[in-house]
Amino acid sequence: MRVLVLGAGGHARPVIETLRALGHEVAGLLDDAPGPAVLGAARLGPLASLAARRAEGLDAAVVALGNNVLRAELAAACRAAGFALPVLVHPAAIVSAAARLEDGAQVMARAVIGPEASAGCCALINTGAIVEHECRLAEAAHIGPGAILCGSVVVGARGLVGAGAVLQPGVRVGADATIAAGAAVSADVPEGGRFGGVPARPLPARKGP
Ligand SMILES: CC(C)(COP(=O)(O)OP(=O)(O)OC[C@H]1O[C@@H](n2cnc3c(N)ncnc32)[C@H](O)[C@@H]1OP(=O)(O)O)[C@@H](O)C(=O)NCCC(=O)NCCS
Repeated sequence: MRVLVLGAGGHARPVIETLRALGHEVAGLLDDAPGPAVLGAARLGPLASLAARRAEGLDAAVVALGNNVLRAELAAACRAAGFALPVLVHPAAIVSAAARLEDGAQVMARAVIGPEASAGCCALINTGAIVEHECRLAEAAHIGPGAILCGSVVVGARGLVGAGAVLQPGVRVGADATIAAGAAVSADVPEGGRFGGVPARPLPARKGP
């Protein structure tokens, strides 16, 4: 299959490698910033040229952006333009036959998805993350590299679980919440909450812009 990749930043790299490991051809990249080819994949134009690429006959796309809000928006734009969003599972990932992955879900190398776990549209389970049995990841959730979700954890839409965080069994993380890298989460996190530390507590407000 020839696949268009949206985004040419950091996450585009493992996405390109995953596509090639699965035997797909990377048709090229769309990104608003100019720049060199990425791992030999050429930039074809800005994100706004999506419809033109569809008119050229491309019909499958992967949204290779770590930002959950943008990934969800661009997945919707892809669908509206008539692109299929294939599920991407790296050959070195382990996904239970009893797990359910919706369109555009991405499972990177060495991730593990347990039985009766589910991941919504364009959810991203990053390198080496463990999503145990019966976990439920909503649309565009992102489980960072090496994070561990014990059984029956729920992560709401666009929720971010930072790298190496551990979520104890049954914890519920609300939509648009952020769990800091390395956190140990033993209690529910509300929608939009920002929690970090061991044990996880609400984080101070953001210092950056
Ligand atoms: C939690 C996080 C989102 C905060 O980033 P930010 O919004 O830019 O906020 P700041 O860096 O200004 O930090 C705000 C406060 O949170 C603290 N903080 C930041 N990261 C933290 C962490 N991992 N654990 C505990 N506290 C943390 C900061 O020390 C600061 O507290 P202070 O004011 O007492 O010094 C970010 O540090 C993080 O962990 N992101 C996850 C990244 C990740 O793993 N992505 C996976 C995809 S590759």
